[in-house]
Formats: sequence, structure tokens, C-alpha cells
Amino acid sequence: MIRKSSILITGAGGEVGSQLIQLLSNQENLNIVTLDLHPLESTISSMVSNQITGNVLDQNLLEQINFEFEIKEIYHLAAVLSTRAELSPNIAHDININGTMNFLELALKQSKSQDYNVKFFFPSSIAVYGVENQKNKVYQENESQNPITIYGANKLYAEKLGLYYSQHYNQLSNNQNFIDFRSLRFPGLISASTIPSGGTSDFIPEMWHEIKKQNYYECFVNEESRLPFLAMPDAISAIEKLMQYEKELPSRIYNVTSFNPSAKEFFNFIKNKNKNAKISYNVNPIRQKIVDSWPSDINDNLAKKEWGWAPHYDLEKTMNEYLQY
Ligand code: SER
Repeated sequence: MIRKSSILITGAGGEVGSQLIQLLSNQENLNIVTLDLHPLESTISSMVSNQITGNVLDQNLLEQINFEFEIKEIYHLAAVLSTRAELSPNIAHDININGTMNFLELALKQSKSQDYNVKFFFPSSIAVYGVENQKNKVYQENESQNPITIYGANKLYAEKLGLYYSQHYNQLSNNQNFIDFRSLRFPGLISASTIPSGGTSDFIPEMWHEIKKQNYYECFVNEESRLPFLAMPDAISAIEKLMQYEKELPSRIYNVTSFNPSAKEFFNFIKNKNKNAKISYNVNPIRQKIVDSWPSDINDNLAKKEWGWAPHYDLEKTMNEYLQY
């Protein structure tokens, strides 16, 4: 049987997955295979060649995927996000760690059978950091790696697993085939088309969507809360650029960011456009603690230097052109 040359996207129905599919589906002759717990929305599923509904922990399903497809790239997006993970650490560990192991193993099997180094994209997060003073910026990727959340600990360990399965460690074992692991530590993401759920950076995108809908938002963190952010198109083009980069990527794991308004500053931006906008603050202590442990800003010079990353949308452009308030 001839296996179809494909790319595989897990968690394909999520915020990032659905946007990524739209971008990748423009490439000619690309067989896109998706895996998600739920069926994809019809607008997205029409862009996909093979849609699989199932769980990232289902070994039989993984064997079937391995048997049926020749996978060149894996985008492993399936994850339990930070706030939800705090409520069910066991489930978070299963999905975020065991699920990731399953796909690293799949990538390795595929690399061996094809004699080709399968590219593996992993969305990491600013949650890998744990800072004592939130006002301080994180300047380097290897600084302040003391996450206080299960989600952050999961992301950090999954990064290490990715490195383990990639070239450096495989050279230690004289293995010819390895995984070409590539990862971005995403800040909060804001999308014009979807509202996130289960995350902690959600207060910024929620604020925009709720005020657009009903002129009012009750914010779950205090007005001083400040996190780094990217507009969704920049997040998607960062993934594309990182995955298409042909030369060696010495560091493999990179911060990416663009702007970092506080909750109050973001609200004032909206208020400038919409005089009826109103906000109140009802602080959720668990979510506030998570935000306070993440850096208010990160440096992404490593990505700029190693593969030419640059964001297109700053805050003004995000508001005026992308979100079009
Ligand atoms: N945006 C994510 C969250 O808040 C962090 O990666 O969970």
C-alpha cells in the first residue's frame, strides 16, 4: 500500500488550528490530515483531506494514522490550557505530556520508515516562566523557568522531550533519523474570529469580543495586569516561517511577541473607539496568581536573529486594521 504524503495537525479545531488550516490549505497538493476530539466546523473541514475525530491518547488510532499516512510534518496543537489545567491537573498531564509523547513517537517512527527527518511543531507558552516580579521583562529563553502552573510545567517538559527526540540527542545514540523539533513560546493571542476558553490570557480577547457584543466586560484580573500579546495572523505566520526555514535552527525554541498592554490600557484603547464601552473588575484569585507569575514582557531577539522573525501587527495596527474597531 502506498501511504499518502501528508501533514498532520492535532487539536485542529482550536483557535490556532483552524487559522493554520486556512493558511496551509492554500498550498497546492498538500494532503492535510487533522485530529480533534470534536468534528471540525464545516467551513474548515472542507479545506482538509482527512478529518479524524478522536483522542490523542488513543494508541489504536495512532497506529492507524501511522499505517495510513506518510507524515512529513506534525503540528501538535492539542492541549489543555492553563486555567482549565489547574482545575484538572491529572487530565492536563495526560493530554499535555502523554499526548505529546505519543506524537513524538509517531514522528520518530515516521522518520525511520521514510528515512526523512519529520518536522514537529510544538506551541509552547510564556507559561514556562515563573517570575518573582511581574513588572520585569524576561530577556532570554533560559531565564526564570520556574512555572507555578501544571500547564507551564507541562509545556516546559514537553519542550525538553522535543529536544531529546531531536538531532542533538540522537547523535548521542548514533541514530540516523531524528525529529526536527521546532517550538514557539506564544504569548497571549488575540483573534478577530474566535473567543478563547480555558486560558488565562483570555481577559484581553474576551474584553474585545464582549464589548463588541454588549458594550460591557467583567474582567477576571485587576486593571494593572499586563501580558505580552500577538495578533493571531502574526502567530500563524510565525509558525509558517519557522516551519519553512530551511537552514539549521540552533536554538529550536523561541519567544515571539509584539505588544503588551495592561487590562486598563487595552480597555482605554477600546473606549477611544467606542464611547459606550464599560468595564468592571471582579478578580479571580487563581487566575490573577497565574498572570502575576508570567512575565509582563519577553524578549524575542533570538527568533529575530536565527530565522528572521518580525511581527507585522503592533497594538495600533491590531486594533485599527485587524480587529477593525
Ligand atoms: N494563552 C495560554 C493560556 O492562557 C497560555 O499559553 O492558557
